[in-house]
This record gives sequence, C-alpha cells and structure tokens, in this order.
Amino acid sequence: MKILDTHLEKIKKYLNHKGAEELIFNQLFEVKVSLGNEWSYIKDKKLDKIFYNSFCNQLATLSGQQFDNFRPILATSIPFTKFRVQAMHPSIKVINSKNEEVPTISIRIPAKQKYKITDFIHENTHIKAQQTLQEQIANESDFTKKIHLILKGDFNILISGGTSSGKTTLLNAFLEELYHKNPSKRVITIEDAKELNVLHENKDEFLVSRTNTSAVKVNYIDMINSCMRLRPDFILLGEVSVENSSTLLRIGNSGHKGMISTIHADTARDALDALAINLRLHGFNSSDGAIRQYISTAIDYVVQVNKVQGIRRITEVANTKEFI
Ligand SMILES: Nc1ncnc2c1ncn2[C@@H]1O[C@H](COP(=O)(O)OP(=O)(O)O)[C@@H](O)[C@H]1O
Ligand SMILES: [Mg+2]
Repeated sequence: MKILDTHLEKIKKYLNHKGAEELIFNQLFEVKVSLGNEWSYIKDKKLDKIFYNSFCNQLATLSGQQFDNFRPILATSIPFTKFRVQAMHPSIKVINSKNEEVPTISIRIPAKQKYKITDFIHENTHIKAQQTLQEQIANESDFTKKIHLILKGDFNILISGGTSSGKTTLLNAFLEELYHKNPSKRVITIEDAKELNVLHENKDEFLVSRTNTSAVKVNYIDMINSCMRLRPDFILLGEVSVENSSTLLRIGNSGHKGMISTIHADTARDALDALAINLRLHGFNSSDGAIRQYISTAIDYVVQVNKVQGIRRITEVANTKEFI
C-alpha cells in the first residue's frame, strides 16, 4: 500500500477537486477533469511515466489482476474507497506524440453530497430542444443541411454502404464537422485499423484485433464496455459486425448518445435488417417487431452512401423510427 499511497498523494487534489465528476489521465504531465458539461486540463509535472505505470500496476496487483499487453483492460477501484478506476494499456492505444505510450486511466469521482428527489426535477428543455431538432430534420429535404442538423444533436448514427462506398471517408467528414461545431468534446474511437482522423484534443483512440488468433485477451465487446467508462461525448466504432452489434445496440438503448459507426448494407432498411439478423445470431429471440423497436431506439439515423454510376453519393438520410 505504501507505493500506492505516494501515488494517491500526488493526485489527491484532483480526487477532491471541486465539481469534478471524472478524471482522465491519458497523456504525460496532464490530467483532464470533467466538470459535468465542460473539461478542465491541468498540467502537472508529477504525472510522469513512472506514475502512470506504477499506479496501474499497483492497482492491478492489489486487486489480483494483471495489466499488460495480454490483459490490457483494468477495471478496479482505489482500495477502501468508492473511486472506480478503469485503465487501458498503451498496447491497444493509437500512440501519438502527445500520449506517448502511457495508459489511459479514468477515475470516477463518487458523489460528494447528497441530493434530494427535487434535485432531479427540472423543466426538460434539452428533450424539447431535441424534439424540435428532429422535426426540423424531418422537414429538411436537402441532404447536406439535414446532416448538419443531425450532427448538431446528440444522436446515434449509422453510416451504411457497400464495400468501398465511402463509409469511412464520410465518417471522417462527420468527425471534422463535429470538431468545428464543438472542439472541446471528448471523442473515443475503436477500430481494427487506424482509419479515423480525430481532430479533437480530448480523445483516446483504440485498436482492437478482429481475429481471435491474437494472444490479447480482449475482444471488441470488452473494448466497447471499457470505453464507455472513459467518459466519451462521442464514441466512434469503425464497423458494426455480428460480434459487436448486440453491445452497440445495448449501449444505444441504455441511453448513450453520440455513437457513430458504419455498417455494410445497400439501403438503410437493409442496414437495420442486418442489425436484426446480427441480434438473432446473438441469441435474441424476441418478435421481429420488438427487435425493430429495440434497434430504432438505439440508433436514431442511418445515412446511406452508394456508388451510383461510379460516383459516391449520399442516397438516404433516414430516421430509424420510419422503419418500425
Ligand atoms: N466522395 C468521394 N469521392 C471520391 N472518392 C471517394 C469518396 N469517398 C471515398 N472515396 C474513396 O473511396 C475509397 C474507399 O473509401 P472508404 O471510405 O474507405 O470506403 P468504405 O469505408 O465504404 O469501404 C477511398 O480510396 C476513398 O478515398
Ligand atoms: Mg471502411
């Protein structure tokens, strides 16, 4: 415990930081403090490579886990406290000059005060704004304007298209647009090959192997679940597959907004049907209607790209509620 105590001493002021909900450590000499709706970045010379590695190793050891190339996800808490810790090993991160081979560590700050039921009662202006936005989107026929409106809201979006139709390229265009709309959002990506280009400073990018031949004991599902604990405003998944469909939809259904991914299908309806089939392959045996309802709750919009006469273009921007 001695070594851990010295690390905790270093970060004590952040653990007690006023208004902090979550701490993210993902680059040397810096901590990102989530204050609810905004982030504060604090520079700190003590957060060196030794801190990052030794802190994670201590936490792993004390909870009977290992944290290395083969077991790159650590889920634990600071012993004898309610601080939940999630860490991702550098071996699964896209490394750049800023994050320089350090793990990403997220620490969830437990509520410091009690709240009453009335603290949860507010006029729901956000929901009303989203409803108005959805109406605007429905009334807009120009695809460019429609997509701009969609990216303004907190929606879950699927980009659907055939092989080489431009799905990933369009996803990158969305990312750029999201950056210009609000560069301070936190973006997390999970891909099997590095194709996405995130301009946001507050980001973590992960790579996951699609094949099960690797000795690494994590799969796409573990990655998604772990990333959900790293406080993403936007989570981008390279591609929907049979393997990850049910996880993606569960997250969408559990109320997470700002999830964007691509799927291989020729029409928006086919994309939703493909998701339904993936769910059935994963053991969902509800009725077609119930499955469709589940999918349309998780995913808000499908943007379809097709190569028409050799030219890549957006052919549909569909609200999934139209398909129930
Ligand atoms: N709008 C576009 N116009 C011209 N070429 C494009 C366009 N979108 C994508 N491409 C090119 O098409 C190829 C495949 O794009 P990609 O986004 O990787 O497709 P997908 O993800 O659907 O397989 C890339 O070489 C890309 O540069
Ligand atoms: Mg692609």
